Amino acid sequence: MIPILTIDGPSGVGKGTVARIVAQKQGWHLLDSGAIYRAFALAVQNKRVDITDTDALEKIAQKLDLEFKPTADGELLNVYLDGKEVSSILRTEQIGEIASKIATVSAVRTLLLKRQQAFAKPPGLVADGRDMGTVVFVNAAFKVFLTASVTERANRRLKQLQKQGHPGIMAQVLAEVERRDRRDCSRQHAPLKPAKDCLIIDTSELSIDEVVTQVMKIIKV
Ligand code: C5P
Repeated sequence: MIPILTIDGPSGVGKGTVARIVAQKQGWHLLDSGAIYRAFALAVQNKRVDITDTDALEKIAQKLDLEFKPTADGELLNVYLDGKEVSSILRTEQIGEIASKIATVSAVRTLLLKRQQAFAKPPGLVADGRDMGTVVFVNAAFKVFLTASVTERANRRLKQLQKQGHPGIMAQVLAEVERRDRRDCSRQHAPLKPAKDCLIIDTSELSIDEVVTQVMKIIKV
């Protein structure tokens, strides 16, 4: 059995950072499932496909040429779409918005499922997303669901965008986070919700280190 830790939660809750730190500490592989949905969104945009054309979306999902390679310092994973490095484009709100729309198409989710499950390799995996503990790795040994107030998450998102050199307006970021929450929670297939057997951590008042400490405790049991 490969040990798997799933970290699910809404946009801007800090899942990505916590997942990366825990994976490094454990020496485990890392799956940023949002990056797969975002890369898919970029492919859809590049091919100028109408996002309501589910047949065309399915074709793109079947042929998605996607690779994750460690950065020179080994700290992060760069994402390559059709051989081109696209990591920073993927982080934009525009791509996040398209990703969340096409993530509601159940055929797309099914086609991307195996690609995500293939990340489970020894010595272990930390997988972050929306449905890691409920669908993709339903038998994972360790499951966490991170939450935080919507204002706090919008604040964090704004700071992250500014750090990456993208301008951001709080009211706009807040509206985007709320819209994304609504879509992610209300979709029929794999909606965002805590797994029955997960530990829920409200991170609103916690630092990243404090969240990591709580998460590490459940892996050690
Ligand atoms: O986590 P991130 O913001 O990168 O994800 C982008 C979008 O991809 C989310 O808003 C969500 O709609 C979708 N997603 C998903 N299931 C996942 C990961 C991401 O539906 N496991």
